[in-house]
Amino acid sequence: MTTLSTARVVPGDWFPGTIPDNARLDEGAYVETSYSFSLCRSRLQPAVTMGEGASAYLGTMFDVGETGRVRVGRFALLNGARIICDGRVDIGDHALISWNVVIMDTYRVPVDPGLRRRQLRFGPPPTAERGDHDVGSRPVTLEANVWVGFDSCILPGVTIGEGSIVGARSVVVGDVPPLCIAAGNPAKLIRSVREQDRSP
Ligand SMILES: CC(C)(COP(=O)(O)OP(=O)(O)OC[C@H]1O[C@@H](n2cnc3c(N)ncnc32)[C@H](O)[C@@H]1OP(=O)(O)O)[C@@H](O)C(=O)NCCC(=O)NCCS
Repeated sequence: MTTLSTARVVPGDWFPGTIPDNARLDEGAYVETSYSFSLCRSRLQPAVTMGEGASAYLGTMFDVGETGRVRVGRFALLNGARIICDGRVDIGDHALISWNVVIMDTYRVPVDPGLRRRQLRFGPPPTAERGDHDVGSRPVTLEANVWVGFDSCILPGVTIGEGSIVGARSVVVGDVPPLCIAAGNPAKLIRSVREQDRSP
């Protein structure tokens, strides 16, 4: 549990930052470091919500654009994931997201080489005037009890159904139905979660 002071400082934090006012953390949620919010630029209220027992460990990054909103459900665990959100990313209750997973509702970067070149010429470091090109966003939903294996990538517009699993190092480009296992690049269904996979 992370008990924030009125200054919204994480006790014992190695990073000298604060949790933004528009991050709504349940009293029973845990955040290892405020560094996870250093790229949270959303103007929405709330921008990030974390439910009871939800946790965000070292390496987790909420990279949330001005109109982005992220929900992390009850007892969901983010073990060093990067969430890139300009619209909506929803992570359900009891979801387990392993290390180095990227969940993105936007690619942020234009396909047009000329636009990319123009943006790059404004840095380093990038400035506010660089005129980011809006490439749009499509909501991403991970339903309850989803498990995403390490190094995987969930691309814009994807919904992963309740209880499903994404194998390690997968790139998920389309929806995964509930209680299925998908893996590979691009991720394909390898089987369903069987009766014998379940505890009695
Ligand atoms: C997805 C997973 C759970 C499947 O386990 P499983 O049911 O025991 O599956 P199997 O090992 O029997 O593999 C079944 C098939 O899927 C393939 N497969 C399994 N995992 C794969 C992966 N990550 N990428 C590509 N193919 C994969 C296997 O090659 C096999 O193919 P085949 O039938 O052609 O031989 C497991 O492979 C995995 O990736 N676990 C994630 C581990 C992890 O991230 N841990 C972090 C801790 S939070």
